[in-house]
Amino acid sequence: MTDHMNTRLTRRSFVASAAAATLLPVTARASVPTLTARTGQIRLLPDEYPETEVWGFDGQVPGPLIRLRQGQTLTRKLVNQLPTPTSIHWHGLRLPNAMDGVPGMTQDAVQTGGDFTYSFTPPDAGTYWYHSHHQSTEQVARGLYGVLIVDETEPPDVDHDLTMVLDDWRLTQDGKTSEDFDRPHDWTHAGRLGNFIHAVSVPQVTTVRKNARLRLRLINVATDRIMEISLIGLEGKIVAFDGMPLLQPQTPERLFMGPAQRVDLIVDVTADEGEDALIASHERDGVFAIVEMPVSGSSTRRGNIAALPDNPHHRLTTVKDARKVPLKMEGGAMGGLREATFKGQRLSIQEMVQLGQAWAFNGVVGMPDEPLLRASTGETVMIEMVNDTAFAHAMHLHGQHFQEVLEDGSFGPLRDTLLMARAETRTIAFRADAPGKWLLHCHMLSHAAAGMRTWLHVT
Ligand code: C2O
Ligand code: CU
Repeated sequence: MTDHMNTRLTRRSFVASAAAATLLPVTARASVPTLTARTGQIRLLPDEYPETEVWGFDGQVPGPLIRLRQGQTLTRKLVNQLPTPTSIHWHGLRLPNAMDGVPGMTQDAVQTGGDFTYSFTPPDAGTYWYHSHHQSTEQVARGLYGVLIVDETEPPDVDHDLTMVLDDWRLTQDGKTSEDFDRPHDWTHAGRLGNFIHAVSVPQVTTVRKNARLRLRLINVATDRIMEISLIGLEGKIVAFDGMPLLQPQTPERLFMGPAQRVDLIVDVTADEGEDALIASHERDGVFAIVEMPVSGSSTRRGNIAALPDNPHHRLTTVKDARKVPLKMEGGAMGGLREATFKGQRLSIQEMVQLGQAWAFNGVVGMPDEPLLRASTGETVMIEMVNDTAFAHAMHLHGQHFQEVLEDGSFGPLRDTLLMARAETRTIAFRADAPGKWLLHCHMLSHAAAGMRTWLHVT
């Protein structure tokens, strides 16, 4: 009896493990690709300077290029080998709230030695990026970011598809990252601006032919700097903002790119052989070529530039029944803010600055306990943003794109980050499609750290 039972049990568990043996290896062998946040050395400056120590994904800056086809699933295990906690935010992507990478809101920060696996399927094609969302003023400035491209099912026909990662480094004389991440003067003014605007081309450009067609994906990854960019020897159209196609491509003029914003262009090389096609940065002390593409050889001129295939993201048709909420932006140097609420306490502006805080949304500094608004899935919401400060701000919504409601009642392009000049009032709207807790903050990361953060609750 006992023997018989044992045999049966043994037999049964053998069957179970045999089944497991045929099923398991498939998943067990397909190990999850990792992104390791760690220190590294990169060459930013000319050879006579030392390399720069950075924090990067896999020790690189930018981190490894992540490229997938629309509809493909992205899975990455973040492994933290840094001395401090970290996380990854997938900027501009529609994803489940739990994958959004916001410590304290959608997950716990990943501790030193820990890991966290992100997995989601981006529905939209386009140019995106990923970056640390923990102590990001410091971590993004040290290099914790990378490019994420979702290719259209039928991408436009171009000769080169180049991503230009634009950063603004604050370096010391010996080429080190300047470790002054929390100077009150930066936080209360235009943020922590660097002294070295630098572009990395992914892949690296060698030479281009005259009349060659390029897709240029510009990404401003700077913590705080608004980039002013123009193209020289390149002519064409802007085809997308923040990853989302423009229904009508636009002719580019000077591009003002707030932190986190992306611009996709399709351009043809018009510079002559022997010249350079250039991407130039307009800075206080002059105009500098940040990318030089030597022209060698030529090809025949191509035809019209068409719009990109559209994404499945909702576009507004009306805001008639929208739930409206005001968002008053106040604070900073030369602003009128005298006092505000911080962690439930009424403080004077001087007391706030002592605590490293300087900016308020609707009179509250830092993340409020209550969301700016609660909405039900499918509801259209409208946020009237009044910039009552003396500075520009790059307002970023997590989880989905929005559109600006223009004066004539029409809607602007889909964006995830809106650059607002000082004293401007601009209204954005979107259909709240994704349940969860979504941040709305200034992407000038010094401003965000110094108070410009709120959140929306979609249920
Ligand atoms: Cu690109 Cu809240 O971030
Ligand atoms: Cu700001």
